[in-house]
Amino acid sequence: MVQSAKIREKFLSFFEARGHKRVSSSSLVPDDPTLLLTSAGMVQFKPYFLGQKQPEYTRATTVQKCFRTTDIEAIGDDRTHLTFFEMLGNFSFGDYYKAQAIPWAWELVTEGYKLDRTKLWITIFEDDDEAFDIWNKKVGLPQERIFRLGEKTNFWNMGPTGPCGPCSEIHYDQGEGIGCGRPQCDVTCECGRFLEIWNLVFMQYDRQQDGSLLPLPKKNIDTGLGLERVAAILQDQRDVFRTDLLAQILKSGEEISGAVYGQSSTTDRSLRILADHSRAITFLISDGVLPSNEGRGYILRRMLRRAVRHGKLLDIQDCFLANLSQSVITSMGDIYPELLEHQKHVQKVIQGEEERFSRTLKQGFVLLDDYIAEIKVDQKSIISGDIIFKLYDTYGFPVELTQEIASEEGLSLDMEGYEKLMGEQKERARSYQEFYDLKERPEEVYRDLTAGQKLSFVGYEKDEVRTKITSLVKNGTKVGEAGPDDEIEVVLGETPFYAERGGQVGDKGEITTETGRIRVEATYPVLDEIHVQRGVVVEGRVAVGQEALARINAGLRKAICRNHTTTHLLHWALRLILGDHVKQAGSLVEVNRLRFDYSHFQAPSEEELVKVENLVNNKILDGLPVRCYVTSLEHVKEMGAIALFGEKYGEFARVVEVGDISRELCGGTHVANTGAIGLFRIISESSIGSNLRRIEAVTGFGLVHYLRERDEIVKRLSSLLGTGDQEIVARTEVLLRELKNKEKELVSLKVRSALAELERELTGSLRIGGTALIGHIFDDIELDHLKVIMDNLQKKTTSSFIVLASKNNGRPLMLVAATADLVEKGIRCDEIVREVSPLISGGGGGKSDFAQAGGKSAGRLAEAVEKARMLAVEKLKIGSGQ
Ligand code: SER
Repeated sequence: MVQSAKIREKFLSFFEARGHKRVSSSSLVPDDPTLLLTSAGMVQFKPYFLGQKQPEYTRATTVQKCFRTTDIEAIGDDRTHLTFFEMLGNFSFGDYYKAQAIPWAWELVTEGYKLDRTKLWITIFEDDDEAFDIWNKKVGLPQERIFRLGEKTNFWNMGPTGPCGPCSEIHYDQGEGIGCGRPQCDVTCECGRFLEIWNLVFMQYDRQQDGSLLPLPKKNIDTGLGLERVAAILQDQRDVFRTDLLAQILKSGEEISGAVYGQSSTTDRSLRILADHSRAITFLISDGVLPSNEGRGYILRRMLRRAVRHGKLLDIQDCFLANLSQSVITSMGDIYPELLEHQKHVQKVIQGEEERFSRTLKQGFVLLDDYIAEIKVDQKSIISGDIIFKLYDTYGFPVELTQEIASEEGLSLDMEGYEKLMGEQKERARSYQEFYDLKERPEEVYRDLTAGQKLSFVGYEKDEVRTKITSLVKNGTKVGEAGPDDEIEVVLGETPFYAERGGQVGDKGEITTETGRIRVEATYPVLDEIHVQRGVVVEGRVAVGQEALARINAGLRKAICRNHTTTHLLHWALRLILGDHVKQAGSLVEVNRLRFDYSHFQAPSEEELVKVENLVNNKILDGLPVRCYVTSLEHVKEMGAIALFGEKYGEFARVVEVGDISRELCGGTHVANTGAIGLFRIISESSIGSNLRRIEAVTGFGLVHYLRERDEIVKRLSSLLGTGDQEIVARTEVLLRELKNKEKELVSLKVRSALAELERELTGSLRIGGTALIGHIFDDIELDHLKVIMDNLQKKTTSSFIVLASKNNGRPLMLVAATADLVEKGIRCDEIVREVSPLISGGGGGKSDFAQAGGKSAGRLAEAVEKARMLAVEKLKIGSGQ
């Protein structure tokens, strides 16, 4: 068998011998904002094709990790498609062109890999006569082997924009046994018989936003040969999953699930999904992607969840993906050392995400199953938008998963309803993020008012400035002046007031004119760049055009600066202690505290947090200088500053440097030296979503206030407990122990009195033969106690069917238990519970000898208990022939 390692090596050395530089695979996360993931070998060379950068070499060859998301839901349906795959490629950057690329490809395929020439078919772009002549005359293929096809298949685009060009593909005929079986089946048929193995792109255009084609500075070559497909052919498999690239992973899936590949089309599909997805997620995580609800994180999450679901379909009970991923790492780690390097991280991320998802998945399935059963009874065929939304929002079902289940059941989805709810949720989330009540920003008004006016922010250097009132707005309307107690929005020519942005709150302060004074309560941006001061006229009157002295509250600003610089230090320290994958996900910089949201797959340990806190404090006490300067974005990239994903930057950017440890793009205000921060303390760390965490912290006076508050609490506690500070803990422990003992006593009293009540009932209870049938409702007993009572009661009988219920805080609970002899007679507690629980608007389940139910309304609880008892009576009567 030709090992895949040999196939890779043969490719690389073939082109190396022809002057190509062997270049390593780039990451799956591309350095290109127009692309979500690396989808082809050419991605890392895009700047060379576009002529933006000059390469040190003009020919390159690679084995590139690639990921295609086109149709994740279709993966598993056939034996050739994969999301993650390896692409072998040779590239020419303005060097050779078609006349060399085509014959080389033919030579490697037929002489290097020794593929049977009679099985190879060629396609070219319809009007590419040049390619036709090379294939026909130079290579010597007869014209009936060369198909001229249209743009859809033979014009390769990197994406909606970017490098592109006509292409020529080599296809391999797998034989009549595969595919549609039609005698006229040929390379244009989509049945799968003809396998595309190599795509030669003649890269000569740059597609523009409007769809037009701009010729590239030079003509280039970009080719891509699918490793898995060539391996399938050379290893005589009609299935990429059986090649040495995937067989080991597939086998691990078989071992974990007990299913055998090749026995049933349903389990085969799931096994293929497990193999493809586990490989893909392992590579994605090792390249730094973390599960999240958007972008690449969402793709990862979707695939991980789809794999988990197919694991369940294969009857795998426990978490299994980390094991499967281990098998990916073992079988591919020698080729991709980053897998071994990040092994622990990959495992942790998978384990955490799978555990979390499995828990909610279970509940989600119950909901969806019940719902599907219900709509089928009603003969409906659409899953409503609110169910899709609930499954997504509460149970973490990716919509695609619901879609897949629905189509298995022959149902469709009300996507419009779902989108509407999603839109509403986004709106809620957005308004939640707003720090101030900025309901109606009269943007249009400001657009008019400020036209032609020179406005500028001078607050980086100055706390106060002599300026002019250029506009006043009251209740969303332009006014010429404002009087006492008027709530107004003010625009100034120059302003020292920082407008809320990038997480930093806006400044407060005062604006004074000759005739009046405005207290500024908030500053925010309108139309992205105008700083609007909102406040109240507290003295006299103010008017448009007046000279004014604008002064921020410098004390508050200093506190904000302390928190902002600390935010950068915290970001730096978290990356150092928890790893480079940590990214800022949001931040709030206020006067009293800072809040920092970041991505990380698990809760940091106490020890890690202490390390982070110490690191930040060390850098504060070191008194590091903080430098802020504006430079070109190009320069910023070269320096490797941290730019926040999703933030907009113009051509120039402001860089904030703390000592030589942190460099971020940031428009905020900062202390000049970290010593001015004083001290730093983390006051909370929590989860705010899957893989998203939040730290709240205080600095400077914020920390002093925090300590004072804590001291106050300690003082009050010690006075309440009547002890000194040092004894608070010991004294509280004693009290809690006492309380627990008392609680226990109370419970045993409650249980005992309930039992006494029941024993009386036992003697007079309904009996059939030697069996006691008891039903009792308590007023307010919680589930655990109800179970103890049930246990005790059962022990007092030899043969019994007991229903115990309670209106626990208005929420009905029911327990049903039967002794073994009754189970033998056909009594099924779980079935009984299922039948009666609708009476209490609830559900439940269990086993044949014991089951429980919970519901929403206790109104018909008595009826439910009685019905349960009667169901048992019926069974017993039938059983005993009565
Ligand atoms: N870019 C082309 C493809 O992905 C050839 O490498 O098919």
